[in-house]
Amino acid sequence: MRTLAIYSNKGGVGKTAAAVNLSYLAARTGNSTLLCDLDPQSSATYYFRVKPGLKSGAKVLIKGGDRAYKNIKGTDYENLDLLPSDFSLRNLDVTFDKLKRSKKRLKKILRQFNDQYDIIILDCPVTISLLAENIFHAVDHILVPMIPTTLSVRTFKQLLCFCKKKGYDTGKINTFFSMVDLHKKMHKELMVAVSKDFNNVLRSFIPYLSQIEKMGIYREPVAAFSPQSTASKAYENLWAKIQKSILSAHGPHRTESPSSIR
Ligand SMILES: Nc1ncnc2c1ncn2[C@@H]1O[C@H](COP(=O)(O)OP(=O)(O)OP(=O)(O)O)[C@@H](O)[C@H]1O
Ligand SMILES: [Mg+2]
Repeated sequence: MRTLAIYSNKGGVGKTAAAVNLSYLAARTGNSTLLCDLDPQSSATYYFRVKPGLKSGAKVLIKGGDRAYKNIKGTDYENLDLLPSDFSLRNLDVTFDKLKRSKKRLKKILRQFNDQYDIIILDCPVTISLLAENIFHAVDHILVPMIPTTLSVRTFKQLLCFCKKKGYDTGKINTFFSMVDLHKKMHKELMVAVSKDFNNVLRSFIPYLSQIEKMGIYREPVAAFSPQSTASKAYENLWAKIQKSILSAHGPHRTESPSSIR
C-alpha cells in the first residue's frame, strides 16, 4: 500500500480537484483505492455524491479500531472507496494535542488498511499545525499543487523550511503547477524559475480550465464526465507522471530550497 497526501499550506490551490481526479484515475488504472476526506468542508465527499458524516465523528481518525472500516463508503466507481468527511474534523488539531503520541495517530489509523488498498489518497485541509505533522508522519508521499504566483512559491518555501526544521524528510514532497494560465507571462516565467530551483517539480501541470469548475455541477471527477476534455487529459498526464516519478521510483529525492526563491 502507498499513501499520498494532496496537501498545501495554502488554500484554494486545487487540492480537492486533484485528490478527486487522481483517486478516480488510480482506481480506473486498476488500483484498489481509498480517498480520505480530511477536510471539514467535505468538498471531496460532495463531489462523489456521498453524504458527509462519520458515525463516531473525529474519533474515527483518532482512536482507530474498527471505526474507520465501518465508515468507509463505496462510490459510483469500481475500485474506489471513500472515507467521508465530518464537520467535527474541524477540531482535529485540538483533539490530537490532548493525546499521547499526538503526531502519529493518523499513521496508526491508515496502517490498518495495509491489506485492503493499493493506494490511499488524502484530501487535506489547509493546515501547518498538528494535523499537518500527522499527515507528514503518516504518508509515503506529499503532493503539493502550486499556482505559479509569487505568494504560492513563497508558501511552498515556507513548507520546506518548516519540514527541514522539524526533521521531516523533504524528499517525499513533490509539487506540480495548478490552475496555470499560459497567457500570463508571470505564470510562464515562474514555472521556468521554480523548475530550475527545485528538484521535485513534476513535469506535468493542470491548466486553469472552466471544465474543472464544472465538477461542482456534475458532482463527478472531470475525467468521468468529460473524458476527452483537455482537463481530463491534464489529470491523466499528471497521474502518469505520479506513477512513474513518485510511486514507482526507488530511493529518496532531495528537494532543494535555494535562497533565490523567497
Ligand atoms: N485547474 C483549475 N481550473 C479552474 N478552476 C479550478 C481548477 N482547480 C480547481 N478549480 C476551482 O477552484 C476552486 C478551488 O479548488 P479546490 O477546491 O480544488 O482547491 P483546494 O485547494 O482544495 O481549496 P481548499 O483550500 O478550500 O480546500 C474550486 O471552485 C474549483 O472548482
Ligand atoms: Mg480542498
